[in-house]
Amino acid sequence: MRWRWWGLAGLVVLTLAVTAVWSRATSGPSQRDADVGRGLYLRNCAPCHGDTGRGDGASAGGLLTRPADLANGHLMNGLPDAWLVSIIMNGGPAEGLSPAMPPFRGNLNDAQAIQIVAFLRAIAQPPPRAEGMPALAAPTPAPRQPILFSHVIHAGSFQLACQYCHADARRSDYAGLPSVQRCMGCHKIVGAQDNPEIARLHGYANRGEAVPWVRVFKVPEFTYFPHKAHVRAAVACQTCHGPVERMRVVGADTGRALVDDLLRLAGLHPPQRPLTMGWCVECHRAQNATRGTHAPLDCVTCHH
Ligand code: HEC
Ligand code: HEC
Ligand code: HEC
Ligand code: HEC
Ligand code: HEC
Ligand code: HEC
Repeated sequence: MRWRWWGLAGLVVLTLAVTAVWSRATSGPSQRDADVGRGLYLRNCAPCHGDTGRGDGASAGGLLTRPADLANGHLMNGLPDAWLVSIIMNGGPAEGLSPAMPPFRGNLNDAQAIQIVAFLRAIAQPPPRAEGMPALAAPTPAPRQPILFSHVIHAGSFQLACQYCHADARRSDYAGLPSVQRCMGCHKIVGAQDNPEIARLHGYANRGEAVPWVRVFKVPEFTYFPHKAHVRAAVACQTCHGPVERMRVVGADTGRALVDDLLRLAGLHPPQRPLTMGWCVECHRAQNATRGTHAPLDCVTCHH
């Protein structure tokens, strides 16, 4: 009989311990982190970004690119913690920004960078949403692009709509990529002073060349995939492409995998991998059943 009580007491202690650890893990950085971060910020960052984060520090005037306004919640709240830590430790160029933002690896460790980020979250106006900050998407295999273009900055921080750049998605089979002229509409001025990635963009524009972006998502030639049908049926881009606005670089873990084929041979049912035929057909079945859509299941519509 007695072992039962011990078991129960043990369970209660375990539950309390797990709850404590869990609430600590989910409550994020503490006020103490933000206080320590403030001190580190004033010593390392304020000379350029200013005491209140507005980008008006004493050294700012001598820089070609203006230091970012780190108190502007509209821009900061779409930037994941891990992205901010990366830019602090590795400097602007690691994320495609100007080398005027220096690397602090050597002066600061990761824990201190996290404390500075806690301070930046505390001064952002408007403040971050209550449900917390977006997390950086786990990296997937991605090609090296001719320009380090960041969806985290354009779609996450500045919140440009996907279809502002991928403007053909609603009316054609392809989503399309923006022309150099489209980019230059902003970048004739933005970042034109000392950002090497923007200098590359200017190079393509001056030579009248298109940027040779490397394709990421692709189905085989014998398959027909129209974007417009899906956009009009209100399937969000992220359903198929993942959280692009939180990807440092766009990558994809798609297509058939030998392991899955072997598992199926063994009678198991691993989830369908994106961009395989099973993935298309499974979603079509589900949508037709739950939303009354008419997504095709016959061979010829997808294979002309
Ligand atoms: C020598 C000046 C200088 C110092 C010191 C400096 N920065 Fe910067 N920082 C810049 C400049 C300039 C930019 C803008 C880069 C651009 O727009 O290409 C920038 C950009 C940033 C960004 C990107 C913001 C965005 O919206 O994209 C963050 C975050 C940042 N700095 C944080 C910090 C932190 C934290 C520190 C201290 C650890 C720091 N910086 C120290 C000059 C500086
Ligand atoms: C609506 C305006 C706008 C358009 C259109 C635009 N950008 Fe940007 N871009 C920005 C702003 C704002 C920044 C942030 C600049 C900074 O903080 O220094 C930026 C930053 C960048 C950077 C540096 C950071 C990064 O993303 O790596 C690159 C490179 C860049 N843009 C490339 C492009 C390319 C290529 C296109 C076209 C496909 C494009 N931009 C279209 C506004 C725009
Ligand atoms: C400022 C313009 C701009 C905005 C806004 C933008 N993109 Fe992009 N997108 C690009 C450029 C340029 C590329 C090619 C470089 C790359 O792959 O990162 C690209 C690539 C992609 C790709 C990979 C294409 C391929 O080759 O398979 C996908 C998917 C994508 N974007 C989805 C989105 C989604 C979803 C959003 C909104 C959350 C979005 N984009 C917002 C400019 C933009
Ligand atoms: C139902 C799934 C699905 C949805 C929803 C979807 N895509 Fe795609 N996307 C794909 C597939 C599949 C490919 C590869 C198509 C091919 O190879 O012909 C692709 C390719 C792309 C490409 C590169 C080739 C091209 O078409 O220009 C871009 C860019 C892109 N998608 C952006 C977007 C954006 C932006 C949205 C939302 C407006 C979106 N996609 C919605 C599945 C989807
Ligand atoms: C997330 C769900 C989803 C996925 C994944 C998906 N589709 Fe669809 N598909 C739809 C919906 C919804 C429709 C629209 C049905 C309607 O309009 O009634 C559609 C319509 C279509 C159509 C009909 C176009 C037309 O003009 O009638 C084709 C072709 C198609 N999809 C091909 C594909 C292919 C190929 C893939 C995989 C590479 C795919 N789809 C993946 C949801 C999906
Ligand atoms: C909703 C769209 C869709 C429908 C419907 C569809 N397919 Fe496919 N099919 C695909 C896509 C996407 C691929 C390429 C990805 C892959 O191989 O999984 C593919 C690949 C294939 C392949 C090549 C597989 C291989 O081993 O390389 C064959 C064969 C094929 N389909 C036959 C069919 C037949 C037969 C039907 C009718 C019973 C059919 N498909 C219906 C989308 C579709």
